[in-house]
Amino acid sequence: MTATHKDLTTSIPINNMSPKIEANLNEIMAACHAVIASGRSILGPAVKKFETDFSIYLGAKHCIGLANGTESIELGLKALGIGKSSVVATVANAGMYTTTALLAIGAHPFFIDVDLTTRNTTLSEVNRAIDAGVNAVVVTHLYGLATPEIASIAKLCAQKGIPLLEDCAQAHGAEIDGKLVGTFGDAGSFSFYPTKNLGALGDGGAIVTNRSDIAEKMHQLRQYGWSTKYRVEIPGARNSRLDEIQAAILSVFLPKLDKANARRREIAARYTTHINNPKVQTPEQTGTEFVAHLYVVQCSQRDQLREHLQQMKISSDIHYPIPDYSQPIFGNYFGGVSLPNTEHLAKEILTLPCYPELTDAEVDLVIAAVNSWQS
Ligand SMILES: Cc1ncc(COP(=O)(O)O)c(C=O)c1O
Repeated sequence: MTATHKDLTTSIPINNMSPKIEANLNEIMAACHAVIASGRSILGPAVKKFETDFSIYLGAKHCIGLANGTESIELGLKALGIGKSSVVATVANAGMYTTTALLAIGAHPFFIDVDLTTRNTTLSEVNRAIDAGVNAVVVTHLYGLATPEIASIAKLCAQKGIPLLEDCAQAHGAEIDGKLVGTFGDAGSFSFYPTKNLGALGDGGAIVTNRSDIAEKMHQLRQYGWSTKYRVEIPGARNSRLDEIQAAILSVFLPKLDKANARRREIAARYTTHINNPKVQTPEQTGTEFVAHLYVVQCSQRDQLREHLQQMKISSDIHYPIPDYSQPIFGNYFGGVSLPNTEHLAKEILTLPCYPELTDAEVDLVIAAVNSWQS
């Protein structure tokens, strides 16, 4: 730990795609060239290859490539039977993506709380939602952490006949006892937004599932509801296809995912070991259940800490500042909802830079800046 902020000649951004793109530019260009030369740009061999490879990677029977992560949640829930006026359990601390999908369906969110330490939901909260009569459950593996109780939650949902969708947009490759997230519930949704652990260079998403009935519905839902060309058989569909170029780029990055996740974990462990400011609480997870999509600390004077980091040219962010039920679009609609842990965390969380291309020297500068903060 020899670095000081005086060594810092440039700022440290919260994320930076350029080094990753530069390091893989030849492969990316070759993959794009092959797609363009093939003359197939929609639902061709590149999407098929990625779907096959990603399902093998996860240990799932099916993968259906889609346009983005939010539509993956929306269409995934529709494939699970969710429709207008259905009620679906979701956390309120995960950036409003699931709630947006529910609003698009015309379904209602039933908000459940999270654990203060893991920042993920719990078996008892899912139990509460099921007792209240929800029609489905969405579990978000937030910040890259496989929800610790996901196996018990999946078991409970199966026993009660309640469909379970895992939102894995922040947790590609996270696992519990060798089982990867996305394979515990009835289906798993993914986003391939560029900064995700597995990211394209544009939008992308997917649903994975072991159930062939869901896979079949997803193939229809992503393409106008067609059973065969121009024959529309299921309602609620749209155009939501992963395109060939993004799929080809994802196939460049997929074989590198485990190594990138290991580097993210290394950075997270370095932070956790060396951040020793008593006012800053660091996350505890270090094993393969955590793929360190976001490194989120907690601090009761979060805004002052953030200001201090900004002065030292270190970017930070808040994932996420507003619980879904407090979003302005709802006005007072959810006035009766109050989730104490969600609200407490929204005031205290702060995300530090954590992406595989960060150097140890840069990580040390962030550590030194956090440790030098005095309230
Ligand atoms: C937890 C979570 N769910 C869903 C999404 C939505 O993904 P997309 O931006 O691809 O629609 C995101 C991504 O931003 C996310 O972080």
